[in-house]
Amino acid sequence: MAEAAGFPRLIRTVVRNLIEAWPAEVYRDGIVEARFIGRRTVFVSDPALIRSLLVDQAAALGREEFLTRSLSQALGRGILTSDGERWRHQRRIAAPVFRHDRLRAFVPAMSAAGAETRARWLARGPASVDMLAEMMRTTFDIIVATMMAGDHGVDVARFGRAMNAYLDQTTWKMALSLLGAPAWAPHPGCVRGAAAARYLRGTIARGIADRRRSGRCGDDLLGLMLQARDPETGEGMPDDSLVDNLLTFIAAGHETTAIVLAWTFWLLAEHPEIEARVLAEMAGAPVAPGGGPNLEALAYTRQVVMEVMRLYPPAPLIVRKTLSEIRLGGARIPAGRSVHVPVYAVHRHARLWSQPERFDPDRFGPAESGARDRYAYIPFGAGPRVCIGMGFAMTECLAILAELLPAFRVTRAAAARPETRFKVTLRPHGGVGMTVSPRRHPEP
Ligand code: HEM
Repeated sequence: MAEAAGFPRLIRTVVRNLIEAWPAEVYRDGIVEARFIGRRTVFVSDPALIRSLLVDQAAALGREEFLTRSLSQALGRGILTSDGERWRHQRRIAAPVFRHDRLRAFVPAMSAAGAETRARWLARGPASVDMLAEMMRTTFDIIVATMMAGDHGVDVARFGRAMNAYLDQTTWKMALSLLGAPAWAPHPGCVRGAAAARYLRGTIARGIADRRRSGRCGDDLLGLMLQARDPETGEGMPDDSLVDNLLTFIAAGHETTAIVLAWTFWLLAEHPEIEARVLAEMAGAPVAPGGGPNLEALAYTRQVVMEVMRLYPPAPLIVRKTLSEIRLGGARIPAGRSVHVPVYAVHRHARLWSQPERFDPDRFGPAESGARDRYAYIPFGAGPRVCIGMGFAMTECLAILAELLPAFRVTRAAAARPETRFKVTLRPHGGVGMTVSPRRHPEP
């Protein structure tokens, strides 16, 4: 257990905002060793060392217990929360499901969810909204529609509430695990969290059983996962792993993407000249077969989303534990050490970015991107455990923006940017207050 005197302070830090406890050097240096939340931790901010760690020496790394413990009650031992052969087998099965050519089939469902939000906003007229809540609802509709299309047995609103109830208490589980408390230790929200986990798992398990009974596979995520086979062994995924992974896709996929979208609206409202470039690009893009702009043609809008994820990476911290000794630059790091990549700090690092606080999507134009180290920008991680849903998330962001931006003028409800807090994801604290008004002459 960590030293008793520091308990309340440590708990407060982890539950309030872990990022505030990072040493200031992570924003200036390449590698920093420090005592962090009661344990010796190596922070890696240098792009070459990040590559060495997450790509070249990935096999010597495992998941940190505090992460797996906070998530596994609902997500079991799926792709996000497992290691070793169990992880490799599941990742091999799921990888083709997220291939670029498959993603195109999901675009209509993504655009339809965006159109539903547009209809809701139009019906309401000019109004103040919490953009984070609005985008959470939209991305949640998308993940449910792309995962279990036509399975009308799911109560989407109740499912969403259960997912939030579960995720809301995970920072407590994380704090207690970091402090060495046993897994059964009670904490605020634990009873609701356990009930939510049971409900979520039961709902997905019933969806899988219904599909198996009906013999209907479908080309949604569930259908694709039911048909997917490990290319090396030919085996499919057992039902309990399917539950783990479908819930993982929902948990890992909907809030992260919603955060990016909420910040995109905020930053575009702060920078009308950038918003005007985005609108011009959307208006000038060729029309896709289902209507709306062809997403592949939205190169500048994509740069905007990338710059949003630089400033506000929804996954602001990548954590690993060394399974055996590794070398990073000249340093030897023994087995059992916590190694953290502070993504938020890497993306604002003084040596890697000029004027790091400035919102400037041109940083991601072809010339500037080409001149930068690939590992200076890692919103989706890197190496074999890079985000499996990164293409899905990017496509989703573009599809929703293309539905909403040309139809609404979105302005800030307050001048100050919302504060961010680490809640496994990096959440805007207290939501993102904005005013939404239909444009008098919607952009075509
Ligand atoms: C903007 C949205 C997203 C961001 C910023 C994001 C970020 C990340 C990051 C940084 C990792 C690596 C974590 C690590 O190395 O420890 C990761 C892993 C993962 N993400 Fe995402 N993600 C997003 C959307 C999604 C979506 C839409 C899905 C699925 C539908 C998804 C599913 C996963 C899974 C399953 C993993 C674990 C991969 C593995 O360990 O092999 N993510 N994500």
